[in-house]
Amino acid sequence: MSDALPDHDVMRRRRFLTWASGIGAAIAATVIGTPALAAFLAPALRKVSPKSWVKVADDISTLDVGVPIKVDFVEVANDAWVESRALRSVWLYTEDGAKFTAYSGICTHLGCGYNFDADKSRYHCPCHHGLFDMKTGAVIGGPPPRALDTLPVKVENGELHVIYQTFRSGVPEKVET
Ligand code: FES
Repeated sequence: MSDALPDHDVMRRRRFLTWASGIGAAIAATVIGTPALAAFLAPALRKVSPKSWVKVADDISTLDVGVPIKVDFVEVANDAWVESRALRSVWLYTEDGAKFTAYSGICTHLGCGYNFDADKSRYHCPCHHGLFDMKTGAVIGGPPPRALDTLPVKVENGELHVIYQTFRSGVPEKVET
């Protein structure tokens, strides 16, 4: 007696095996592909907040009073899959150790970094000799068209935080970029 199946049974079995392997492949692709797709899309879907509080001092009681302090930090920005880093500077000033003013470290004339001239108690921009008042940031000499740009600042649990922002250079109005 032969074990061979009739032709129509063989055909039915082949169709079933073809169908079953197709379903299996589809399930495998879904299981494997979904997390991979999610991981691929995740950065694009992530919400990017360009403005956030940055801690610039751990303990305000350690900061000098009546003398500007420069703080440099690295700002990290995520735009979809691209992470960029930029060195930022702010100047901090306080007269009482409790209330602080924060200035962007960028000169309002053409965007150079400026320094503090301790001998003359003023900020000096080396590019075109712009001069700014130490306490108020007002222009006291040179070509800058407006005072230094102030930044939002807050004290929280003894820490000092600022929101770093950039503004247009060379114009009298403070216009955020
Ligand atoms: S960039 Fe500062 S004075 Fe020109």
